[in-house]
Amino acid sequence: MKQPRKRRQIEREFGVPVAGEILDPTKWTQTALKRLPEAGPIDLAALFGRVAPLVVDLGCGNGRYLIGSAVWRPTMDHLGVDVKPVVIRYATRRGNQRGLANVRFAVVGAERVVRELLPAASAAEIHCYHPQPYYDPAEVHRRLITPAFLALVHRALIPGGLFFIQTDNPGYWRYIREIVPCFFAFHERIGRWPDAPRGRTRREIMALKRGLPLFRGSGPARTDLSPDQARAIAEALPPPVFDADRRLRWLDVEEGAEG
Ligand SMILES: C[S@@+](CC[C@H](N)C(=O)[O-])C[C@H]1O[C@@H](n2cnc3c(N)ncnc32)[C@H](O)[C@@H]1O
Repeated sequence: MKQPRKRRQIEREFGVPVAGEILDPTKWTQTALKRLPEAGPIDLAALFGRVAPLVVDLGCGNGRYLIGSAVWRPTMDHLGVDVKPVVIRYATRRGNQRGLANVRFAVVGAERVVRELLPAASAAEIHCYHPQPYYDPAEVHRRLITPAFLALVHRALIPGGLFFIQTDNPGYWRYIREIVPCFFAFHERIGRWPDAPRGRTRREIMALKRGLPLFRGSGPARTDLSPDQARAIAEALPPPVFDADRRLRWLDVEEGAEG
């Protein structure tokens, strides 16, 4: 007699499928990176058990983008980080349930990752989707995208490695467009990401559903800059003191991104 075919377990978020399939628990993996080195860089080859191009997502939220990339690009390794334990719990559960061996998630600040945990010239791609704009002037110092941060992203990328950034905040985008090209051969993307036209990340899906404009771009690290030169350039650039426009705060509240 024919065995009934098992239904594929596809997960959806706001109606948009999350890549991959939830496997039988016997096939689950452990994607939480719980122990970080006390000082110095991560041993990436030991972590993944192989040497492969590395994709990093800084402020990865619930991991949607990296999960998709890890499913679709099995020859690449992936590291997602976020300061919020709750979102990393979602991300690791997704990674585990899909039996992924090429992704790890850690609770840690993006600044520490690029400054210390990633060896120089170690990442093939670094992504940053919807860094928080921080509307309150007292919180402006928490903004992630600063010239010094970009110099460190540049240092962590292999020569020609790619930086991706996206926001729905027009003030943040004006600032990004001004300083990112100092470190990367940056091109604005008009239109959606071809691999995920309904949104690469949870926040992108939410913004698209609300009809908000989205600003995106990417580009390779400038190969004519040494890390010292990048640092010197950073020192001469303005800090991110743009007006984030408090009227746009509602989407952060709705997303639960604040705090
Ligand atoms: C607006 S959410 C976007 C999440 C996800 N990238 C997306 O597009 O759906 C911003 C995320 O950045 C995280 N975050 C804020 N500051 C951070 C930092 N310094 N390092 C790492 N993550 C940070 C927050 O916890 C939050 O999950």
